Amino acid sequence: RKFPWRAEPGKDPNVYHVWISEIMLQQTRTATAIPYFNRFITRWPTLKALACAPRDEVLHAWSGLGYYARARNLHACAQALVKLHGGSFPSSVNDLRLLPGIGPYTAAAISAIAFNQPAVVIDANVERIMARLFTIPKPTSQAKPQIKKLALKIFPAERPGDFAQGLMDLGAQVCTPKNPVCGDCP
Ligand code: ADE
Repeated sequence: RKFPWRAEPGKDPNVYHVWISEIMLQQTRTATAIPYFNRFITRWPTLKALACAPRDEVLHAWSGLGYYARARNLHACAQALVKLHGGSFPSSVNDLRLLPGIGPYTAAAISAIAFNQPAVVIDANVERIMARLFTIPKPTSQAKPQIKKLALKIFPAERPGDFAQGLMDLGAQVCTPKNPVCGDCP
């Protein structure tokens, strides 16, 4: 399996790229988001370039992805970072969460993937993986604290970013809701 959006081995991920992709992937499938992602980073290669872009142009480039609040927040977030943070992203979940458009899930994903901070990313995919791995009989909606505990138990302190991305890719491509490919499960 190929994961073309990942940083090359030995190269640090670009936090600007991680952030844009996480915002796009909040409500959009990866295959749909990829061409938008490529157009965005070609047209606005840096956070500063995006912050300086007219809002209408950003919204126009977003058209087709839906949930336009994401695009308005993306632009507001770029401007806030340039004005208030010297144009760089904070690395902690708590500081990331204060920014427009960044909720608990996205804050954890950025902190783990871009900064290798020990943040555990939990979404419906990760809940399903933990429920299957640890044979939790309850519906995942009733097992959230237990799931978080189990995810923390297998959390590899030295590789939070790979753990987050690995769980997401596993949930999307192998441990799928229907017809999981259990023969490919690591
Ligand atoms: N959905 C949200 N974030 C994702 C990521 N980093 N990789 C794959 N799917 C995602």
